Amino acid sequence: MTRPRADLDVSSVLLEPERFPPDAPLSWPDLFGDGRPILVEVGSGKGLFLVNAGLQRPEFGCFGIELAKKYARLAAERAVKSGVTNVRMWPADAGALLARRIPEASVREVHVYFPDPWWKKRHKKRRVFNQTLVASILRVLEPNGELHVATDVEEYHGVIRELLAGEPRFAEIDPPPLNDPEHDHDYLTNFERKYRIEGRPVYRSSYRLTATP
Ligand SMILES: C[S@@+](CC[C@H](N)C(=O)[O-])C[C@H]1O[C@@H](n2cnc3c(N)ncnc32)[C@H](O)[C@@H]1O
Repeated sequence: MTRPRADLDVSSVLLEPERFPPDAPLSWPDLFGDGRPILVEVGSGKGLFLVNAGLQRPEFGCFGIELAKKYARLAAERAVKSGVTNVRMWPADAGALLARRIPEASVREVHVYFPDPWWKKRHKKRRVFNQTLVASILRVLEPNGELHVATDVEEYHGVIRELLAGEPRFAEIDPPPLNDPEHDHDYLTNFERKYRIEGRPVYRSSYRLTATP
């Protein structure tokens, strides 16, 4: 298990929610500078996808939301070590932020990779990908913005697809092609690496928000 490194200064990446006015909308220009398209990842884990996205698309502002403070810190450390400058980590719950504080129609891409499946029936209500999240994603995406989802759980993938099929503004598109990995960091996410190495299936879906309701 990777341990956070207390000696590494991650203050340029790891945001402190308590320093932001409570419930105030986030300002993308304050976080990334003016005029950048914004990519949001829900549940960034250790940040492999987010940091690769920042490196590959320097014109974007890449904003990761990760509930587990330890993982948010590890993702921030990955960003600092990589030298990427357009990545920020928000170490808190994605739900409230997406529902209210991320400005409406301000996000070019939302990515949700390997959300916790919460297998037990009585725990399924804890799943992050639910009707409320769909409503929030609809709220924050720009016209023609994209949603990308992956999971190893066929049943959860079915639930996600059903939720999105119920919203006519989402048009399904082909998921981006997967890398042919040469190195550990060539995978989409840490969980994708683990499951592909184990030979387990990965279910992916992508959508574009149509410009008109
Ligand atoms: C199974 S892990 C996947 C991590 C990463 N996306 C990957 O594929 O390697 C799910 C992550 O979502 C985070 N998470 C769960 N609920 C969340 C929430 N409400 N807001 C933000 N992150 C959340 C968990 O802490 C965990 O790190």
